[in-house]
Amino acid sequence: MSPARPDPSPSDPAPKDQIVLGLETSCDETAAAVVRLDAAGQAEVLSSVVASQIAAHAPYGGVVPEIAARAHVENIDAIAAQALAEAGLDYAGLTGVAATAGPGLVGGVMVGLSFGKAVALARGLPLIAVNHLEGHAVSARLAAHLPYPFLLLLVSGGHCQLLAVEDVGVCRRLGSTIDDAAGEAFDKIAKTLGLPYPGGPALEKLAQGGDPDRFALPRMLLGRKDCDFSFSGLKTAAARLAEGLTAETDRRDLAAAVQTAIARQLAERSDRAMKAYAEAHDGRPLSFVVAGGVAANKTVRATLEAVAEKRGFSFTAPPLAYCTDNAAMIALAGAERLALGQAHPLDAPARPRWPLDEAAAAANPTHQPGRKGAKA
Ligand code: KG4
Ligand code: ZN
Repeated sequence: MSPARPDPSPSDPAPKDQIVLGLETSCDETAAAVVRLDAAGQAEVLSSVVASQIAAHAPYGGVVPEIAARAHVENIDAIAAQALAEAGLDYAGLTGVAATAGPGLVGGVMVGLSFGKAVALARGLPLIAVNHLEGHAVSARLAAHLPYPFLLLLVSGGHCQLLAVEDVGVCRRLGSTIDDAAGEAFDKIAKTLGLPYPGGPALEKLAQGGDPDRFALPRMLLGRKDCDFSFSGLKTAAARLAEGLTAETDRRDLAAAVQTAIARQLAERSDRAMKAYAEAHDGRPLSFVVAGGVAANKTVRATLEAVAEKRGFSFTAPPLAYCTDNAAMIALAGAERLALGQAHPLDAPARPRWPLDEAAAAANPTHQPGRKGAKA
């Protein structure tokens, strides 16, 4: 069910554009962006600045929460100023400020959220405390005309979920991972192949030209009737095969096999979810969206696009810059909520864990991604 959008009455002033500063600090990117949302619901990204901390964390093979939080504190001021300057605006030109309030590394989340609260208080602007996952959910709307509702596969470092998204903030979970997230599987397997952090893009690069059929990997949950995911068996099998592999061609073939196996599982579960979604949305346009960092993977995109086509769904994936963490998606989620008349109080909490479909998460608490903390 879509939430009731308020009907404009004749006495209402013309709906105004929302121009929102978005802030994202939940993991290892300090990001700020300005997005305009017009009354017809069309988004325009006026600026999007992302300062990656990859170099600071790479020596440790993953994100170090304390280093991340300190870097956010050092960068947020300048990154926000740059986003405003590139948009040709100052704070007076904004209608709201949106900050990621979770889920993620809480020390980092608090930096962006506190900064957002300070801006809201000093400038008298409404604050929107955005769920990072909701940002990923709306990210495909940044660059494409994509009306609600749609079926979403959200595949990031900490999450792997299929969601029926009826409107901003209104979604139903159809499936999720019972162990690792897809990005987490990419990252952990990449590590066993000796690849640097972050593993997903490095594994995709290594897999280029590899033979995906040379190594047999288990097909997890095959034949199960739900839309859940599991990657731990694949991870164990790949780690065993990786042991002792030194020749570049061997490593390349294993990387290709892993990438294909992950893409295939995502496609099999999405196929099942499309069937259920189509039955529940009989007679309505059918749209399938893939979002989150793993959506940057070309094999994953192509495999999913083929399934969507087979099932009669349109296929949308955000441009690569909006697949991985960014603040434009946070600004848009905030702008869409503002347009519905929603805002949050200045004591909105930072939330390390924050499921999108809270009812489904409460009913099935085992279906939470395995990784806690970084990229959670
Ligand atoms: O959405 P994101 O930037 O951060 C959150 O987890 O919220 O996703 C990061 C994840 C990492 O696990 C990274 O390895 C994966 O997305 N990723 C990729 C690719 N680019 C990023 N995985 C496979 N292929 C890629 N090209
Ligand atoms: Zn993310």
